[in-house]
Amino acid sequence: MNTIHNIGVFTSGGDAPGMNACIRAVVRTALFEGKRVTGIHQGYQGMLDANFTEMNSRSVSNIIQKGGTILKTARCLEFKTPEGRALAYQNIKNAGIDGLVAIGGDGTFTGADYFSKEYDIPVICVPGTIDNDLYGSDYTLGYDTATNTVIDAIDKIRDTAASHGRLFFIEVMGRDSGCIALNAGIAGGAEAIMLPEKETAIDDLIELLEKAAFKQKTSTIVIVAEGEKNGGAYNVANRVKEKFDYYDTKVSILGHLQRGGSPSSFDRVLASRMGYAAVKCLLAGDTRMTVGLRGNEIKTTSLEEALHNKEFKLSKDMLEISHIMAI
Ligand code: F6P
Repeated sequence: MNTIHNIGVFTSGGDAPGMNACIRAVVRTALFEGKRVTGIHQGYQGMLDANFTEMNSRSVSNIIQKGGTILKTARCLEFKTPEGRALAYQNIKNAGIDGLVAIGGDGTFTGADYFSKEYDIPVICVPGTIDNDLYGSDYTLGYDTATNTVIDAIDKIRDTAASHGRLFFIEVMGRDSGCIALNAGIAGGAEAIMLPEKETAIDDLIELLEKAAFKQKTSTIVIVAEGEKNGGAYNVANRVKEKFDYYDTKVSILGHLQRGGSPSSFDRVLASRMGYAAVKCLLAGDTRMTVGLRGNEIKTTSLEEALHNKEFKLSKDMLEISHIMAI
């Protein structure tokens, strides 16, 4: 078993609320265990640029409540090349880093997979993305906060929709996952939710909107997940308007406001649990593992399994609930 002396921690890919709380947990757990911690700035890019800082307990003071990531992040193309990874390895070896905690999404996990197969460096991954699209954890870091941010936006838009008797199409993030759309849609009382996982025909949507109008609904909100297959909220709105022009129709793309903000208490606690578990795994000699929440327990999943499995996280019940509640 490798004895680890210096843990490198980094965040990569899209920022997510809770990443700072997780960095804090990694740093403080490692220090508690008598290890050194090096912060790697800008994810894989920081490995290429040797952009490293030694961290202590005060480096992570007053960050648990902050959105974004104090270590910064990037989507790094050069790390996808063997030459890039060779330079990254050289730099982290020169810095004396002998174990890594990678916090991020699918792209981060893929980078960690290549790196730890090619080089002798133990890596533990923490799922950090608002999309909730990773196998091995019921929830990813940032998803709960982002969903609450979306609900807040839906509530506000509902005020305007109801005051003017309008139809709103609200586009939400999530890449190919409909988790934010479905959960925020149910919590925000949406009349329809369009998901990547379940195609909605425009004619079916129109039929639903006609029924809502017939029932004298004074406002109507349709949540459009960015990954759904009709080409986004503007396209959907235009196609609906061609056949159904009953309402004054508006489109709202929520965009990057969904990624920022102070993490919810759920994300702060999850981040603390996952960061702690990641360090414990590294020190126990594990590598190429991900940590995740299953039920209410922190479990590990191999990186291989996490990357090669897709999980349908939308339950049948939730899909049915979204229909029944919209009537
Ligand atoms: O993965 C998080 C996410 O916010 C997705 O929901 C979205 O598709 C994507 O990142 C946007 O990426 P960027 O900030 O690079 O435009």
